[in-house]
Amino acid sequence: MRTVAIAGGTRGIGGALADRLRSAGERVIAIGSADADLTSVRQSADLAARLPDRIDALVLAAGRFSRRRVVTAEGFEQTFAIGVLSRYLLAERLRPALERAETPVILNLCGTGGIPAGRIHWDDLQLTRGYSLFEATMQGSRANDLLGVGFAAGDPGSRIRYVLYNPLFVDSGMHRQFDQPVRALVGAAAAVLGSSVQAASKRPAELLADPPAEPLTALRRGKRVSLSRPEFDGAAATRLYGVLGDLVAGVLEPGRGGR
Ligand SMILES: NC(=O)c1ccc[n+]([C@@H]2O[C@H](COP(=O)([O-])OP(=O)(O)OC[C@H]3O[C@@H](n4cnc5c(N)ncnc54)[C@H](OP(=O)(O)O)[C@@H]3O)[C@@H](O)[C@H]2O)c1
Repeated sequence: MRTVAIAGGTRGIGGALADRLRSAGERVIAIGSADADLTSVRQSADLAARLPDRIDALVLAAGRFSRRRVVTAEGFEQTFAIGVLSRYLLAERLRPALERAETPVILNLCGTGGIPAGRIHWDDLQLTRGYSLFEATMQGSRANDLLGVGFAAGDPGSRIRYVLYNPLFVDSGMHRQFDQPVRALVGAAAAVLGSSVQAASKRPAELLADPPAEPLTALRRGKRVSLSRPEFDGAAATRLYGVLGDLVAGVLEPGRGGR
């Protein structure tokens, strides 16, 4: 029996994936905000320490959106904290546990190969100037592409496969995080145009069972995204990894690193 940890496995696509894997006899550790607040670096680190010392797959599916800029108790913009910092930290802290598995894989549910807008705001990662839901989400998408590149570059000999996966538009109930009238509009659009969470969890389950051979793969649903696109720039990934390492150290080892 394989052990699959799903950050964001209590609802939405992650929740449907958890149900699907449990039905197939897998051991699933589904993590939601009641288990660990993944907007917190400290709680993300504590979660990584609590998980088993052998994990076959890690799914990064936790996300939270806000039309207004929300700052966490640790001083980070919330979208960045849960969508970038926590994902970086969980993947890196769980490297040893994943290396003990036979065919280890990290599946990062993100926006790879989707809307090509957005950039990393290197001089203002926390978006203190000009925050918008769109800018925060797009920065998160670009950063997650770089997380994949940075993870694969961190240990070229690793057996861990990193898969960036964009499920496209899914009727996950995500719209409930928005205020009206956006909630009603996105909810109606999702019901008509989005795929169901059950359908959206099928391909991720297949990828966990039979990961691609390459260290890093980016998929826009079934279609491969070329890793030679500018979003996967190696120098930018190294830079982001350095910044995230400092930010995490600034929280977990006060006196070292910082923002
Ligand atoms: N839906 C789409 O159309 C779509 C498209 C492209 C990419 N994606 C990506 O796919 C992923 C999953 O999307 P989704 O639509 O399934 O999301 P969702 O329905 O909103 O589910 C989000 C998950 O994250 C968890 N979560 C939220 N805040 C948390 C916190 N502070 N700490 C720990 N867990 C927390 C939730 O758990 P609780 O309920 O316990 O808080 C839930 O399990 C996201 O990363 C999203 O960016 C989605």
